[in-house]
Amino acid sequence: MGKCQLQYLPGSAKPAIDLAATLGIKAAPVAVHRFPDGELRVTVATPDPTTVLYATFDPPNEKLLAVLFAAEALRRNGCQRLVLVAPYLCYMRQDTAFQPGESISQRVVAELLSDAVDRVITVNAHLHRTKDIRSIFPGIVAEDLSAMPEIAKYLQALPLDPATIVVGPDEESRPWISEIARRLGLAFAIAQKTRQGDSSVVITLPPQDFQGHPVLLVDDIVSSGGTLMSCARALKSVGASVIDAVIVHALFPAAQIAQLESAGIRSVRSTDSLSHPSAVIPLAGVLASALHGEIEADA
Ligand code: R5P
Repeated sequence: MGKCQLQYLPGSAKPAIDLAATLGIKAAPVAVHRFPDGELRVTVATPDPTTVLYATFDPPNEKLLAVLFAAEALRRNGCQRLVLVAPYLCYMRQDTAFQPGESISQRVVAELLSDAVDRVITVNAHLHRTKDIRSIFPGIVAEDLSAMPEIAKYLQALPLDPATIVVGPDEESRPWISEIARRLGLAFAIAQKTRQGDSSVVITLPPQDFQGHPVLLVDDIVSSGGTLMSCARALKSVGASVIDAVIVHALFPAAQIAQLESAGIRSVRSTDSLSHPSAVIPLAGVLASALHGEIEADA
């Protein structure tokens, strides 16, 4: 031990320290000072030849700059191999110009990170039209891990009603909905979603019998909460008994949990990809599995 360590940006101390403990490596914070004009000063600890930089991109713009600044300082102070662990990776949704003149932010962000680090590990990146995350990170190793095994493991430990139906809000959710349902031995259903605006969506449920069934709503990202709330209202209107939600990335403000509850959602649980009161499902296990090679290579 000693040739590999982990450094983490503010906002991620607990999951980062948990990950370092799982890997048996030391963890140190990266200090980020915000000047009155909004500029950032980033100060790293002395790196090891292999250093894992743990940073989840919330809020996205400031974290992106902080990661780029930290990467520069780590390299200049002796880091030879820099692995970015970003459980939530920002700007992955804007993977095309939806309207004339729009920038393809996914491409810009991926190119910036490709210049800064040697490897990127993320979880359930929002890559709906991008088939493979490797295609957007030129020249470096990039991996998009699935949180579904950890989510299923967490849910398996709960007393789940076998009549529960796992529901996904849109066709894009089918892969993870079918995986969770298979792992839990439950039925599943996929709704249709039409987005009308940043926080407004229309959900159409499939012709399935929800009357009296508990529902487990699963989604990758909750941002405005519009998708979950529309789904919950639709499910209530067809007689679902209780609705619980499990998500990977809880991007919505903590105060909005009350709004989700008033739409009929009994509980919201998320992974610890983001610091959030709903974050009860640790990702340290899946991240550590992906990182073991880095530690062994340095042993
Ligand atoms: C969309 O394709 C995603 O899977 C989520 O359903 C979406 O990002 C949720 O966003 P919001 O909470 O703003 O409805």
